[in-house]
Amino acid sequence: MKERILVTGGTGYIGSHTVVELQNSGYEVIIVDNLSNSGADVVDNIEKVSGIRPAFEHLDCLDLNGMDALFAKYAGIKAIIHFAASKAVGESVQKPLLYYRNNLLSLINLLELMPKHNVGGIVFSSSCTVYGQPDELPVTEQAPIKKAESPYGNTKQINEEIICDTIASGSPISAILLRYFNPIGAHPTALLGELPNGVPQNLIPYLTQTAMGIREKLNVFGDDYNTPDGSCVRDFINVVDLAKAHVVAIARILQQKQKAKVETFNIGTGRGLSVLELISVFEQSTGVKLNYQIVGRRAGDIEKVWANPDYANTELGWKSETSIEDTLRSAWAWQLKLREKGIQ
Ligand code: UD1
Repeated sequence: MKERILVTGGTGYIGSHTVVELQNSGYEVIIVDNLSNSGADVVDNIEKVSGIRPAFEHLDCLDLNGMDALFAKYAGIKAIIHFAASKAVGESVQKPLLYYRNNLLSLINLLELMPKHNVGGIVFSSSCTVYGQPDELPVTEQAPIKKAESPYGNTKQINEEIICDTIASGSPISAILLRYFNPIGAHPTALLGELPNGVPQNLIPYLTQTAMGIREKLNVFGDDYNTPDGSCVRDFINVVDLAKAHVVAIARILQQKQKAKVETFNIGTGRGLSVLELISVFEQSTGVKLNYQIVGRRAGDIEKVWANPDYANTELGWKSETSIEDTLRSAWAWQLKLREKGIQ
């Protein structure tokens, strides 16, 4: 019998790609999503890609009784991948309580319900934001956690602590914290991708919308950083590669291969690319010219950060595989598909 995995936020950007990879690896997936930042049609697209329709429950993880009933309905869930969270950095500064409520209470509900329903493990979506501006690059999992730049970042730090404290208190569960760097790109079928609400805050959706003519110009935030070309440097990780890291993490939990009850892995390529370099690779690999201008720095931006992914490479046996060129072409193909469908 297939092992059951619950994916919260499974119709979202990273969640939907992960559901497909889990199904491809033989897991049965149950999605729970409140559709606050995605649509139910994503379930149809997941089915088109994998050939399997995942179970879908339109429910908020904040609803403790509803989640309790969900675990009872789908008895035997072995592990959870917890994506469901609010994720806009700027909005979190405006609405901190919304962010603390959504992101902390959702996790607390899951951690309370897991022992009751014999769910053994959880994979948590964390972020390289916990490192702030690291003192040493590439950054390893041992780097100190810096004071968060935003309530959003703080929820990632606090949630990591909540998981550690809960397990230290004797909860019979284990966890893997995956610290993502900058996930970008879309599924090679162009059936799944990132669909931001309103004006995108993140680089790639803004960039592809500009290339499409939806936005007039991409603003590059700063060219006076202490980096080779003055623009910020990031570790851009392909979303399908990132999704595969979750599958490996789930297998590690289920096969009880963990070296500790809580393990932390950096999920990045190990390669830093500047914003200006990224623009140039986009233009070269798609043949599309991009209208952009340099403007002032964006408040709260980290100057440069990229992963040391050695621990994930050796211990998880996971490695990023897709080239940045293919990744950017996939992001562009997704944007073209959105236009075809009349969405953006
Ligand atoms: C941000 C968050 C990170 C979060 C991630 C997911 C911060 C400091 N980090 O990552 O915690 O996990 O989003 O949403 O906020 N850029 C432009 N023009 C644009 C947009 C972005 O030049 O229109 C630049 C930014 O200045 C940055 C780079 O592109 O240097 C990447 O930006 P973005 O995609 O927003 O991700 P991060 O800020 O790295």
